Amino acid sequence: LSTWNAQGNVLPTETVPKLPPRFYGGLMQVPIVAPPATPAHSRGESFQNAAGDWIEQRIDGLLGEMTIREKLGQLTQIFSGDAAKDWDAVRAGIRRGEVGAFIWALQDPVLRDQLQREAVENSRLGIPILFGMDIIHGARTVFPIGLGLACAFSPELFEETQKVAAVECRRMGIDWIFAPMCDLARDPRWGRVAESCGEDPYLGALCSAAQVRGLQWTKNRRRSQAACLKHFVGYSEVVGGRDYNESDVGDWVLLNQHLPAFHAGIEEEALTVMSSFNTVDGIPMAANARLLTEVLRDRWKFTGFVVSDWHAVGGLVDWGCARDRAEAARLALRAGNDMDMISGCFLSTLEEEVSAGRVALEEVDQAVRRVLRIKLRIGLFDSPYIRGAKEIPLRRRRVALARRCVAESVVLLTNHGVLPLSRDVSRIALIGPFADDPHEMLGCWAEWGRPEDVVTLAAGLRGALSENVILDVVKGCGANPLAPPLRNGNGGEALEGELRNGFLEAISAASAAELVIMAIGENRSWTGESGSRAELGLTGAQQELFDAVAELGKPMVSIVFSGRPLSLPKVWEKSGAVLYAWQPGIQAGAGIADVLFGDRPPSGRLCMSVLQNIGQTPLYYNHSRTGRPGEGQLREGRLEQAAFWFGHGLTYTSFRYGPVRIADGAGPGAPSVAVAEIENTGPRAGVETVQLYIRQTSCHEGVRPQQELRGFRKIALDPGEKREVAFVLDGKVLGYRSRSGAWKVDAGDYLVWIAPRALAGEPARYFHLA
Ligand code: NOJ
Repeated sequence: LSTWNAQGNVLPTETVPKLPPRFYGGLMQVPIVAPPATPAHSRGESFQNAAGDWIEQRIDGLLGEMTIREKLGQLTQIFSGDAAKDWDAVRAGIRRGEVGAFIWALQDPVLRDQLQREAVENSRLGIPILFGMDIIHGARTVFPIGLGLACAFSPELFEETQKVAAVECRRMGIDWIFAPMCDLARDPRWGRVAESCGEDPYLGALCSAAQVRGLQWTKNRRRSQAACLKHFVGYSEVVGGRDYNESDVGDWVLLNQHLPAFHAGIEEEALTVMSSFNTVDGIPMAANARLLTEVLRDRWKFTGFVVSDWHAVGGLVDWGCARDRAEAARLALRAGNDMDMISGCFLSTLEEEVSAGRVALEEVDQAVRRVLRIKLRIGLFDSPYIRGAKEIPLRRRRVALARRCVAESVVLLTNHGVLPLSRDVSRIALIGPFADDPHEMLGCWAEWGRPEDVVTLAAGLRGALSENVILDVVKGCGANPLAPPLRNGNGGEALEGELRNGFLEAISAASAAELVIMAIGENRSWTGESGSRAELGLTGAQQELFDAVAELGKPMVSIVFSGRPLSLPKVWEKSGAVLYAWQPGIQAGAGIADVLFGDRPPSGRLCMSVLQNIGQTPLYYNHSRTGRPGEGQLREGRLEQAAFWFGHGLTYTSFRYGPVRIADGAGPGAPSVAVAEIENTGPRAGVETVQLYIRQTSCHEGVRPQQELRGFRKIALDPGEKREVAFVLDGKVLGYRSRSGAWKVDAGDYLVWIAPRALAGEPARYFHLA
């Protein structure tokens, strides 16, 4: 246990174990996945025990028998979509031992088992295939996207959702899940912020560890699944937010901002890691030995395997880093990639490279060993088949969890007394392209989600209201101006007509209503991989629709559906309340309705700041102070102020934060604690997410952020109730990763805030003795 690895809530002082810093503290000094002390059989035992001599001996035996071709086969992953073009050829390849893994996008467990049988029964050595798939925020039970769920500030909830995903994947024969996404998101132009847990390394690390626990929750059982930490590393720093691009990220930022979430995942024994598409300091990550080998293997003692991202080995030629595919394979293998995702470079070139002496056989053997180790650790050799499952059923408990996740992840940005809604209303107009579109609710990467499972906002509201209330649902306009011309080949004129032809209906519905709910945002296909944007506004004609409806002056609630924090100044200004709903998954409408009517209190907090305009990008709360703090503003003062900072989120009541006090710890030698009294001063019960921020006022090794989140706790308070919330100020809370990679805690001055969001409240001064 360490405070950072607990569930996000700092433990009561007396229960904080006195251990040397482990997670994000000391990780680079100690082996994370310790070699097992005793040899053990894999069945029924943990990864640690399963990694014993027995597994290594079995690998030795297999390596002794394998031909070079069979070895390279283990390092080769192919895509089921490509394979489907010629199954006979693929089956023949499997029989020759040339397929180590699939990206299994087909929901066909029977075919999956047939192919597995081909490997286990008809290939010379019977080594089973690993079936991997991108299940990022749920398989059939689709939960909110990562960026949404992280706003719940609840690693436990994350863990539960990934457990469900693992169970559902197991039923469909997925052994290897390409999650969690550990990239730190600081640039909303980048489409993949949707999959991330936002801009804070502390929150990100807790969420990544929790996801690994969830995905690999059966690790002590006979059969488990493997998680995959991705994308290692620096991918989110791609220049200008342009996907697949170069990243210019230095060690200080890597160590203290980008690596912690990966490190936390490794500490939870994540079994695999995916190297990323981008460069770091000019070297594509697929060829980056310093990070893939020195950090991941030598410092962190990672014993699982590394898979390259999609075609990233072949991509080394496209980068202009390798001359040809053979050189690409050589560089990638040597850097520390063990499996080649779909480029085929390893299989097609390394045999020749080995026989020409340009690659040592030991280098190939090492990679094969790592792949086989994971297949053995998860019990794939003993239990290669799934036998007979036809589909993933939708279960009541999972659906209830999804609903809770929606309610806890939506963030109430503004509220001028409009929410919670009364049920005592005669007519509501629900307007916008996201009002009743089930596909949109599933979000990016929801390959196995089904629109028919989705409760849209329209359905959620209907379910929450009595039959006497009239609910008019009007789409009003399209959300995506690019999609129609791309689909039907029409030009802009036809599109213009299409986009606006619902305006009149929307305005007449709004005019007749007592209350208007706008369901607006960005199309899901504009988010996720390859979903970079140059603007952060509403897509299509939505802004015009919004403006036209807002003109009517009706009480109006705006619900924003999006995979990134959009900059929507007019929406913030003109709405009576704004609820940010992200891409919420199958229980979208039900969970949102729970919050709108106050059946559940809003408690979500932004895990990524919402900017005023795109010119500010990238802007995040935990930036450094600069040498001239506060002097970099544009004339209109809009450069340094976000519209809503990280940690922001309103409730239906109000909380008073008392001053922060620094008190002695419990008992001799115990670290000091920061304490503040929180009181519910409003009329309703509420859940408050109390946040601990620190600043080290001077640090010689490198500048530290103006504020860093280092703890939080969610507390429920009734009206008038107060509670003292205490956070321990120990080395894990105060320290940072030094340039040597070691965790370091400096003696000196710190500022400490206990506050409802970043950059709020008055700090206390604390002097830390070494
Ligand atoms: C490319 C994406 O970057 C990665 O996240 C994903 O896991 C792989 N493709 C496999 O689909």
